Amino acid sequence: MTSNTAQQDAAVADRAILANNAYADGRHLAARQSIYRWQRPQYDLPGIVVEELAGTSGTVLDVGCGNGKFVSRLHRDRPDLQVVGVDISAGILAGVEEPVLVADAQALPFADNGADAVLALHMLYHVGGIEAAIAELARVLRPGGVLIASTNSDTDKQELDRLWARAAGDVLGLPEGPARVSLSSRFSLERAPGYLGAEFKDIRVRELPGIIEITDPAPVVAHLASYEAWADQSGVPFHETVSRAAEIAAAEIATGGTFRITCRSGILACRS
Ligand SMILES: C[S@@+](CC[C@H](N)C(=O)[O-])C[C@H]1O[C@@H](n2cnc3c(N)ncnc32)[C@H](O)[C@@H]1O
Repeated sequence: MTSNTAQQDAAVADRAILANNAYADGRHLAARQSIYRWQRPQYDLPGIVVEELAGTSGTVLDVGCGNGKFVSRLHRDRPDLQVVGVDISAGILAGVEEPVLVADAQALPFADNGADAVLALHMLYHVGGIEAAIAELARVLRPGGVLIASTNSDTDKQELDRLWARAAGDVLGLPEGPARVSLSSRFSLERAPGYLGAEFKDIRVRELPGIIEITDPAPVVAHLASYEAWADQSGVPFHETVSRAAEIAAAEIATGGTFRITCRSGILACRS
């Protein structure tokens, strides 16, 4: 597990970095999503959300919808629902099926009790005021409605943390370099129930463990490189470290046949 400094945590939740850089378009997010193609078992995350919404009718807000992976699946599989994509980045919303809205999870332009379900998938760790955002998600959700949140465990992809620390150490001429910036630690799977418990009594956690084994270093390197928006928080020349990590991963694949990553994430279905 890597734990951020206060400055790194502030950068992970910095709206200008998020909207104008990290998620100005879907490029970095797509690089992180694409590595799951090699995960076993495979989880169809949009399909799991569709399952969780089996008893829901009416309006679904996808807050922090990113490149619209879940929005498009809901439009396809549940055309009866009114699905609204919401994000702080106008850029990333450009390719998402309408209706979409630029808004902050901490101040949603929706009426009290107006939504039948709300999604907050892999996004609450980016919000400055996590408690305020959860209160806001609860405010717009009707009584009996469901909030579906998701995030990563503190122990997710530790092999990438070790690869980064080793590569950073090589670049700096140290036995081990500074830890990789963690995106999800502010609202990890371990912390999420505590935060969500302030507004929701019934929280069901579904853990999604898996193993990624790949024989090509490119997706690993693309994943590390997708943290470019926080390069100045890494304490090491970022691109040099990514290149060194590529060499280490390639050497590991040449010796052992694969590069292996242990994944731990989860989905939380919450009702008040
Ligand atoms: C890691 S991506 C997740 C995208 C999508 N939910 C998914 O699971 O594929 C996080 C998204 O949350 C958005 N975001 C971050 N902070 C936000 C906020 N305060 N309000 C609304 N959206 C936010 C980002 O712009 C980004 O598109």
